[in-house]
Amino acid sequence: MEIFLDTASVEEIREAAGWGVISGVTTNPTLVAKEGRDFRAILEEICSLVDGPISAEVISMDVEGILEEARGLSAINPNIVIKIPVFPVGLQAASRLAEEKIRVNVTLIFSALQALLAARAGAAFVSPFIGRIDDIGQDGMDVLDDIMGIFGNYDFGTRVIAASIRHPRHVLDAARLGADIATVPFTVLGQMFKHPLTDQGITRFLNDWDKIKET
Ligand code: G3P
Repeated sequence: MEIFLDTASVEEIREAAGWGVISGVTTNPTLVAKEGRDFRAILEEICSLVDGPISAEVISMDVEGILEEARGLSAINPNIVIKIPVFPVGLQAASRLAEEKIRVNVTLIFSALQALLAARAGAAFVSPFIGRIDDIGQDGMDVLDDIMGIFGNYDFGTRVIAASIRHPRHVLDAARLGADIATVPFTVLGQMFKHPLTDQGITRFLNDWDKIKET
């Protein structure tokens, strides 16, 4: 499973890219707004840091508006993937963009049927929002499981991004279910490194090494 970083923070992306574990980035309007900077400038900087799919979301609600935004964003860099919510107009635009060879990540997916429709529209990626499904008392992993099962039956060529990841357990479960990608917040990526036995082990190795040096 690939790991993308779910953030618009260039500082976070620079640090995580340095660790050598991320192969893409996803953003959304909320994450971009938190940065308080020009969207294009952020995207240009992200593209200079990560050589992989970088999702940039459109905010238009009509086909022509979505297409215009999408063409403008994808002109920034060939790695830009256009993120579009799953609604009829969004999928209409997604299928037009697929014909133009512009990759689309269909977002705000909360059911396997929405993912199926997005795949039929030619989406390169679908993003089921695991955490937000859990938030309403349902099981986000059940939805991911359904999507992986259905996509396994066919050859859509659409990759599944487990999104709205809230904790390391979500990442583990997504990998067990065979998600193609998990897009994780910076904090969760940091948590994935952590194990008390690793911390203890490093301390013990360093202390023992110091004893050798003293003799
Ligand atoms: O990848 C989607 C993500 O940005 C949404 O996460 O935590 O706002 O549900 P969250």
